Amino acid sequence: MNDSNDNNAGINMPRRGFIGGVGLTAMAAALPSMAATERTNDSPSTVKTPAPGLRRLGGLEVSEIGLGCMGGSGFYYPFPGKARMISVIRDAVDRGVTFFDTAEIYGPFTNEEVVGEALQPMRQKVVIATKFGFSYNGNESTGLDSRPANIRRAVDGSLRRLRTDYIDLLYQHRVDPKVPIEDVAGTVKDLIAEGKVKHFGMSEPGPRTLRRAHAVQPVAAVQNEYSLLERSPEKNQILAICEELGIGFVPWGPVARGFLTGRFGEGTVFAKEDNRARVPFFFPEAMKQNLAVHDLAHRWAQRKGVTPGQLSLAWLLAQKPWIVPIPGTTDPWHLAENLGAVNARFTPDEVLQFRRELEAIRIVGERAAPGALAMSGVEAPEKK
Ligand SMILES: NC(=O)c1ccc[n+]([C@@H]2O[C@H](COP(=O)([O-])OP(=O)(O)OC[C@H]3O[C@@H](n4cnc5c(N)ncnc54)[C@H](OP(=O)(O)O)[C@@H]3O)[C@@H](O)[C@H]2O)c1
Repeated sequence: MNDSNDNNAGINMPRRGFIGGVGLTAMAAALPSMAATERTNDSPSTVKTPAPGLRRLGGLEVSEIGLGCMGGSGFYYPFPGKARMISVIRDAVDRGVTFFDTAEIYGPFTNEEVVGEALQPMRQKVVIATKFGFSYNGNESTGLDSRPANIRRAVDGSLRRLRTDYIDLLYQHRVDPKVPIEDVAGTVKDLIAEGKVKHFGMSEPGPRTLRRAHAVQPVAAVQNEYSLLERSPEKNQILAICEELGIGFVPWGPVARGFLTGRFGEGTVFAKEDNRARVPFFFPEAMKQNLAVHDLAHRWAQRKGVTPGQLSLAWLLAQKPWIVPIPGTTDPWHLAENLGAVNARFTPDEVLQFRRELEAIRIVGERAAPGALAMSGVEAPEKK
């Protein structure tokens, strides 16, 4: 997919008209003002966005909104070219974003190369987060593997691809049910002592495992899926543990993989190459019901003069001062729109009122297929 395929995914296209081409009338008229990010014939670089403020994740300081770079290497169709992703990453730096998220398994390997090339000229100004936790046969993942030797192999490869001699934030991507977390955290502690890694993170850990890991090597951030549509971190103790232990929290999927921006609707059909084709939240019957969540965001967004995507990001920012969402985008207009979320503040009363309305909505389906879900919330075995 080359860079000329960009034009059909923007905020001026009819919302809820994504690949399925449905609900085309519901759109442009229904969009809130969005003056700051309206797609025009000008270059998106002419759109000014406020510089995001800073937030702390454990001992790290990052921009209050980061950039998820995964979509630069597939996952959500249509796929961008490398040149476009590099340009979006550099645009984000120019707009004040200092926090960039990738992983060894995105591609695999190629996403780190794109991020490394994009950020090499401004390496000292940015925080790069990447993740380990899988083994490979060539370019095929052969499954979870957090044994110490595989962590070291992954880190050496990530450093090379990222064109750097340190990783700011190194997450375990998923808990390995065969490896005691003390061995994982101990290996990361050693890598920190060696200067190859600055901070330790975990993604989708079981709650006891998070506590055990933190006791060996303080965890700076947990990265779990969290959005208006998927609120499991509120229910599975993870946010509570982060608060108790002073761990930052990084929501992935903060605009529910595009759903909260209004680009899908009843009848949306995802390309088979698109990961969302396998997400039960977006199966036709579930989508019909779940659109109530987008519609709630849309109503509140209209009141605040922002977009539903901005409202959804602002809601995450309003939950706790140590939450830093990393919306993924491969589109410069969407980047500008997402960063504009810092203009959409919630008052404490509004947080409560919004939650009452949100909790009245019954959400249907799951965020992933059973096999993928089973890899989340896993508790690592005890050390013998
Ligand atoms: N730890 C983990 O297990 C895990 C899992 C998945 C992802 N992640 C990380 O989290 C990051 C974010 O998660 P995510 O990418 O899955 O979900 P997301 O940020 O909720 O959504 C990304 C999707 O939304 C679209 N989008 C973003 N902003 C938009 C806007 N303003 N208007 C319209 N569409 C918009 C993007 O398309 P465009 O490209 O067209 O903007 C893309 O298809 C990833 O990039 C990755 O770094 C981590």
